[in-house]
Amino acid sequence: MVGRICGTGAYAPPVFASNEDLENVVDTSDTWIRERTGIARRHIAVEDTAVTMAVKAARQALANGKIDPEAVELILVSTISPERVLPCTACEVQKQLGAVQAVCFDLNAACAGFLYAYNTAQAYIRSGMYKTVLVIGTEQLSKLVDWTDRNTCILFGDGAGAVVLTGEENGRYNMTAHSDGRKGEALTCRTDGKIKMDGREVFRFAVKSVPECIRELLEREQLLAEDIDYFVLHQANRRIVEAVTKRLNVPLERFPMNLEEYGNTSSASIPILLHEMKQKGILKPGMKLVFAGFGAGLSWGASLTEW
Ligand code: ACO
Repeated sequence: MVGRICGTGAYAPPVFASNEDLENVVDTSDTWIRERTGIARRHIAVEDTAVTMAVKAARQALANGKIDPEAVELILVSTISPERVLPCTACEVQKQLGAVQAVCFDLNAACAGFLYAYNTAQAYIRSGMYKTVLVIGTEQLSKLVDWTDRNTCILFGDGAGAVVLTGEENGRYNMTAHSDGRKGEALTCRTDGKIKMDGREVFRFAVKSVPECIRELLEREQLLAEDIDYFVLHQANRRIVEAVTKRLNVPLERFPMNLEEYGNTSSASIPILLHEMKQKGILKPGMKLVFAGFGAGLSWGASLTEW
């Protein structure tokens, strides 16, 4: 059994902060932010929370996939910015969706979180334990950002993305995943504090580890980089994506990006991007996609999916 994505959804709150808006908050400039990151604006949740954004993205994914909420057997939510520690975000989402049959839990692997949740869903489906799984990445990072720190506040944004997986006999899936707690201090956030990051170290880690784990995945599946139709990377920094394309020797067109609009939405970035790709009609049955995520932990990995 393999989990096939039958529905996608995404939501970003209507309020956003442009780079020019941030020029009034910290000592920065639109030019610096665009050149160093590729980001132009980020959405900010004012009325929304991680729960409400997750529910909106999930409703859309279920509707697109024509899946009744009561048919969902498992809800996995990846988030580092829950509204409450207890109950878990997945249970609150379950309540609002009316997905009364679903088992629910949250998972935290920072910006690799959606990927880890997706792998967890695939593992449950492969084992035969569950057949219909809702996987959500949702983040209200604006509340974890130190708005006086120009090194970090320009990077992050709020939003949610969701996919629905159903178990099918045919399809292709594989994964690689890694963690290195020894390097955890590069990117931290206490429960009572704000995000702190050694940007250069995280950058170096990302441009080395992402191509490595993609190569590992391709080798496992006996595929070449040119066999992959799209690489759907966690959207942290345009320069990270560009460096990965060079190391893999793959044209930039096969690395869709939307960080200009959203910034880094951590767990939500891959499903938001995937939903946009689907809405644009560029995903065709049988296409091979590689998802790749990286972030605090340090944690990173890649997954192969057949559309
Ligand atoms: N505006 C203007 N100047 C700035 C800003 C800003 N917003 N931020 C930093 N600078 C300055 C620095 O102070 C520094 O000045 P100095 O030379 O006088 O000391 C100069 O710009 C260069 O700073 P660097 O840190 O070397 O800039 P860099 O090119 O590395 O870009 C960035 C910084 C964008 C943070 C980059 O390192 C990066 O993207 N790193 C990865 C971050 C990331 O992806 N994090 C998320 C991981 S996912 C997760 O788990 C949450």
